[in-house]
Amino acid sequence: MRCFSGVVAESVRMLFQPPLLPKYHAMSEAEIERGIRARKAELGDRLVILGHHYQQDEVIQFADFTGDSLKLSQIGGQQSGAAFIVFCGVHFMAESADILTDDHVKVVLPDLSAGCSMADMAELDQIEDAWDYIVQDRGQSLVPITYVNSAASIKAFCGAHGGACCTSSNAGKVLEWAFDQGEKVIFLPDQHLGRNAAYAMGIPLDAMVVYDPLLPGGGLTPAQVDSAKVFLWKGHCSVHALFTPQQCDEIREADSDCKLIVHPECSWEVVQSADMAGSTEFIIKTVREAPAGSRWAIGTEIHLVNRLAQDHPDQSVRSLAGIQCLCTTMYRIDNRHLLWSLDELAAGRVPNQIKVEPEVRRSAIVALQRMLDNVSAQPVAIK
Ligand code: 13P
Ligand code: SF4
Repeated sequence: MRCFSGVVAESVRMLFQPPLLPKYHAMSEAEIERGIRARKAELGDRLVILGHHYQQDEVIQFADFTGDSLKLSQIGGQQSGAAFIVFCGVHFMAESADILTDDHVKVVLPDLSAGCSMADMAELDQIEDAWDYIVQDRGQSLVPITYVNSAASIKAFCGAHGGACCTSSNAGKVLEWAFDQGEKVIFLPDQHLGRNAAYAMGIPLDAMVVYDPLLPGGGLTPAQVDSAKVFLWKGHCSVHALFTPQQCDEIREADSDCKLIVHPECSWEVVQSADMAGSTEFIIKTVREAPAGSRWAIGTEIHLVNRLAQDHPDQSVRSLAGIQCLCTTMYRIDNRHLLWSLDELAAGRVPNQIKVEPEVRRSAIVALQRMLDNVSAQPVAIK
């Protein structure tokens, strides 16, 4: 893998999770929960547990803070008083927490196999090839923006090349910032969030092209490169790809009072069919503030939808899809792995530490800081 500007190409990335000791499998749920409470009490203020909204209820009950990717990045960066952050989320979130915290704060991912298939769709050498073609060969002025769902090395590339990170909560604001910096933007790795956010700020679909990293030249002719305003990386979330405009039509036909709210990782067609689109935090806030009797069909991960249904029994909350849209990697984090992590910490060992190489961190933090500098007081809807 190539390097750029002296930045080491890849962060430390271990994806193999050794099996848990048999004793963890022999314990009942109640014993596991008692164990977690005991270890939390023992570790006290030295421990902070962060939980993303897609985590299972059994896990989320132990989180000191819950949030979407943006909120967890902000909260993670404020934990300088802690010794350990146990991140109940996925690998890129733990990497961001490591980048944003002081060196003495150790970030732990309870199960190393909790990755993100979307983040894996953009690799450093692929973005370097895209840069060579669009910037070096075609002479275009390009600002790289990466969704926070990406490896630290991709964030570092963006930071080192005048770009930034964004989340689903502030993609529009970051894109506005990007167009103040240069004429064109390449948006990685989620083509859908990129398209939805760019469209919401008034950029027409025909000014956007999809760059396919698996094809020579991204599959784009020189004429397409020269005329495009936004290059959308060909990546997607396999969970949000399960929502379709047909599901929206069916629900509207069956229940005209039902409001449709979706995550902007859904396709443009789904977002256009929905009433609203925004981050997980935006979805939660919208349902929380709705009057009793409201009816919702929600296009996002099933654990969040089920939790909203439980938390708002005076409203009707269901998934937009008839099927269970589950993020299988988020689901890798369970209480057995959480207890094992806490047992290890309490015994003076740091298991599954997520540590980004200093050289990668130096540029990645620039991109993350630009993301944190472009935040609204409230989560912003894309539609
Ligand atoms: P947010 O919680 O930031 O909306 O993101 C959803 C997601 O897919 C995280 O991977
Ligand atoms: Fe990645 Fe999609 Fe899972 Fe989010 S829901 S962690 S984008 S695979």
